Amino acid sequence: MRFTTFLLALQGVAFAYSSQALEPKALSRASGTFTNPVLYEDFADNDVFLGPDNKFYFSASNMHYSPGAPILRSSDLVNWEFVGHSVPSLSWSTKYNMTGGETAYRAGTWASTMRYRKSNGLWYWIGCIDFWNSYVYTAPDAAGPWTQRASLNGNCYYDCGLHIDDDDTMYVVHGNTQISMSQLAPDGFSEVKSQQIFVTPPGVSGLEGNRLYKRNGTYYVLDDAPSDGATYIWKASSPWGPWTSKLLQKGVTSPVPGGGVPDQGSLIQTPTGDWYFMSFTWAYPSGRMPILAPITWGSNDFPILSSINGTWGTTYPSPLPIISTPSWTGTENFHGFSLSPQWEWNHNPDTTKFALGNNSLVLSTATITSDLYKARNTLTHRIHGPLPVGTIALDYTSMLDGDRAGLAAFRDHSSYIGIHFLNNTYILSFVNGMAQNSSDWSTLSTGTTLATVDVSDKRKLWLRVSLDARASGSKEAKYFWSADGVGFKQLGGAATLNTDWQYFMGYRFGIFNFATKGLGGQCEGY
Ligand SMILES: *[C@@H]1O[C@H](CO)[C@@H](O)[C@H](O)[C@H]1NC(C)=O
Ligand SMILES: *[C@@H]1O[C@H](CO)[C@@H](O)[C@H](O)[C@H]1NC(C)=O
Ligand SMILES: *[C@@H]1O[C@H](CO)[C@@H](O)[C@H](O)[C@H]1NC(C)=O
Ligand SMILES: *[C@@H]1O[C@H](CO)[C@@H](O)[C@H](O)[C@H]1NC(C)=O
Ligand SMILES: *[C@@H]1O[C@H](CO)[C@@H](O)[C@H](O)[C@H]1NC(C)=O
Ligand SMILES: *[C@@H]1O[C@H](CO)[C@@H](O)[C@H](O)[C@H]1NC(C)=O
Repeated sequence: MRFTTFLLALQGVAFAYSSQALEPKALSRASGTFTNPVLYEDFADNDVFLGPDNKFYFSASNMHYSPGAPILRSSDLVNWEFVGHSVPSLSWSTKYNMTGGETAYRAGTWASTMRYRKSNGLWYWIGCIDFWNSYVYTAPDAAGPWTQRASLNGNCYYDCGLHIDDDDTMYVVHGNTQISMSQLAPDGFSEVKSQQIFVTPPGVSGLEGNRLYKRNGTYYVLDDAPSDGATYIWKASSPWGPWTSKLLQKGVTSPVPGGGVPDQGSLIQTPTGDWYFMSFTWAYPSGRMPILAPITWGSNDFPILSSINGTWGTTYPSPLPIISTPSWTGTENFHGFSLSPQWEWNHNPDTTKFALGNNSLVLSTATITSDLYKARNTLTHRIHGPLPVGTIALDYTSMLDGDRAGLAAFRDHSSYIGIHFLNNTYILSFVNGMAQNSSDWSTLSTGTTLATVDVSDKRKLWLRVSLDARASGSKEAKYFWSADGVGFKQLGGAATLNTDWQYFMGYRFGIFNFATKGLGGQCEGY
């Protein structure tokens, strides 16, 4: 069976960042200081550590997006590049394939951990999936290929932190409120011992976000009490305790205007012996963005956060000489035959329904639905910076009756600009009000068409969405279109971006093509 296709981005998909003056990296390179957030992008639940090549590796979670568990790399803790994913496909159950009406919104990868193991040269990633089982993935290189090696017999390592000790023993700290230590078998693929090591102290609202470190023979567990806006640090001379704790921070103000109190994160030692805390601040619509501050050690061997009068600094001296990384914005020409790691699908894609090459991406319709949240093969890209702008060039020559294709500001409350092809008429439409129930992720609304233009006299358009993604900003998305890629006209009014936390991911650009009538029919294109 052949399916209709349309060409996306004949001239490439351009992601331009509209306000270069607000680019944090420009400041850090120029002045020897860095600016928080170190990356104005949604990389949640960071687990940052020093790799064997004296570079830092940053593992994050991305819930229902595929591939899962993104990996970043940096030489200076400030300038980061995207190197890959630890979870090549969300293979744990059929809902991740979004078939049969099932979806896996807000499931997938969350609060996981990654480390390099010297003794066998393998990189390990461990995460609990669906609150019922933890999986171990390994790779010979951080960039992959990653493979699933083990499932840990029903143990959910909630908010887990892996530490590989000096004697090569692998320990995982995990738990919510009741914190446990598990020792893994020599290969890291099963558990040999586990016990509770401490519980939430009286007067604290519940602990999670666990990480395990060792410094100068002493073990440390970092965790936080999110409802209190507090981070605690525990120390012990053995992984099994006894543990004593100290407050690391409480209610420190975010360096991002409108952002939340620093939550979870990583303690990191640099090759020069200095220590840093990479936490994250909740700042929707953008997401959970990494923020960095120096740590010093007190005479009691507990760490002290270098906050400035109760505020996480917006700038600090750079930890290390700046080594620049590729720009996070620019134009994607799709000239390879695989997608760069910046691109993640909403759930696992149907790989038979897209093609790359010839400087274009061809998306074929993969689902018959009128619901964007149920349509497979929506290709997403994180927004970058406070005022992100995404533009695509779209050739809609080969759409079939009932098809809808375009560019969304994608989250649990979404809006889009796109072509609705119906009855031989191509209608450019601004659709707003798509919404999901933030409890069971069912669709509450498939949206309302609020503005239209008949574009049947054309077959190619440029579509653009421009967002104010600042937590302190207007939180609006505006949509534009162009027949020549130069002059853009707005379509409809502004859509409001939501800032609820339950979805756990920030807004993304979403490029979609779905059918409302039928997938089959005449073959067009490829
Ligand atoms: C998901 O789809 C892929 C590709 O079609 C298939 O190989 C895999 O078995 C499916 N996963 C599940 C859990 O059904
Ligand atoms: C490490 O521990 C030893 C023994 O407790 C102590 O003498 C030394 O000062 C410590 N080093 C650091 C860097 O804290
Ligand atoms: C901290 O606050 C004090 C008292 O308001 C002020 O004098 C000092 O300059 C502040 N320090 C910084 C680094 O902002
Ligand atoms: C690329 O273009 C050539 C020539 O038009 C065509 O034969 C080939 O199938 C195209 N490849 C893809 C992946 O579209
Ligand atoms: C399709 O267009 C034809 C011709 O303009 C019109 O007669 C017919 O009612 C339209 N059908 C629908 C479903 O809009
Ligand atoms: C959302 O889902 C929950 C759980 O199924 C249900 O109790 C609630 O009524 C739903 N909310 C809306 C607005 O439909």
